Amino acid sequence: MLRSLLLAAAALATCASAHFVITYPPDRGDSYNTQFQFPCGGLQNNGNRSFWPSTGGAMAIVPLHDFAFTTINIAIGNSVRETTDINSFNHIMVPTFNQTGGNGTFCLPSIKIPPSLKPLVKAGVNATIQIVQLVASGSALYNCADITFSDTEAARFANPQVWNSVCFNSSNIGANRLTNQEKAINYTELALQELNLKTAGGTALSVGGLSLGTAVAATMAVLLAGLW
Ligand SMILES: *[C@@H]1O[C@H](CO)[C@@H](O)[C@H](O)[C@H]1NC(C)=O
Ligand SMILES: *[C@@H]1O[C@H](CO)[C@@H](O)[C@H](O)[C@H]1NC(C)=O
Ligand SMILES: *[C@@H]1O[C@H](CO)[C@@H](O)[C@H](O)[C@H]1NC(C)=O
Ligand SMILES: *[C@@H]1O[C@H](CO)[C@@H](O)[C@H](O)[C@H]1NC(C)=O
Ligand SMILES: *[C@@H]1O[C@H](CO)[C@@H](O)[C@H](O)[C@H]1NC(C)=O
Ligand SMILES: *[C@@H]1O[C@H](CO)[C@@H](O)[C@H](O)[C@H]1NC(C)=O
Repeated sequence: MLRSLLLAAAALATCASAHFVITYPPDRGDSYNTQFQFPCGGLQNNGNRSFWPSTGGAMAIVPLHDFAFTTINIAIGNSVRETTDINSFNHIMVPTFNQTGGNGTFCLPSIKIPPSLKPLVKAGVNATIQIVQLVASGSALYNCADITFSDTEAARFANPQVWNSVCFNSSNIGANRLTNQEKAINYTELALQELNLKTAGGTALSVGGLSLGTAVAATMAVLLAGLW
């Protein structure tokens, strides 16, 4: 938690000099000069990993731009091949959406494990989560968080002291669905509904995802109740 808090504070203090920072789970480090490099902004896995819930969980970022088309992918494995001739980050966790606003915190509370990956995901398995932000200038920015799946991280993160300090949306920050969103893959549509992203035709209200305790489910319900 301390590291998360420090990271969040550091991210806010330094975000003017970085494109976007992943505060939970923490990214590999400051990639300001190389963040346009596929697949992880020019930084290698340095051996550090943080726990992330094996049932899926939250991701928090500090974006910088007015808006960015944002996609969250995952690659399972301890040493993910990270070259430009092959894309290991080909499992979509959150299909592209329009993340709006910068210089604050944006947090998606309940990102799910894609059904196709569930057989591979269990406590102790390593993976790398990649966030791609396509910004108005046409640059694609990449940032990665190296994780180890954990059966206890959801409960730790659910502690309001952790949750409230890490997973919130700053007032000027939000997200919209892109219109004509690809709907062919059912889980894609489901993921968008779970994340409560606004659709062109209406709203989706669903608090799914994490197997958290009742208290947390209630907290999440309160958090989500005011949205949309
Ligand atoms: C791993 O993370 C710790 C704590 O943030 C940091 O002090 C250390 O330098 C990192 N290791 C590498 C190899 O970057
Ligand atoms: C996962 O990563 C950690 C830290 O890099 C490493 O110590 C551990 O051996 C890895 N686990 C597996 C199953 O490869
Ligand atoms: C994305 O969000 C920005 C900021 O709200 C808005 O100006 C832009 O039109 C949006 N783009 C799309 C394709 O939704
Ligand atoms: C965030 O801050 C930077 C540096 O001050 C500024 O260039 C950028 O326009 C700001 N972004 C937004 C969305 O306000
Ligand atoms: C932040 O905004 C997004 C998009 O509206 C929403 O899905 C998410 O639940 C919000 N995060 C929190 C912590 O309320
Ligand atoms: C989505 O899943 C439901 C239930 O299995 C199925 O009836 C429906 O045809 C699916 N839709 C698409 C677009 O695949």
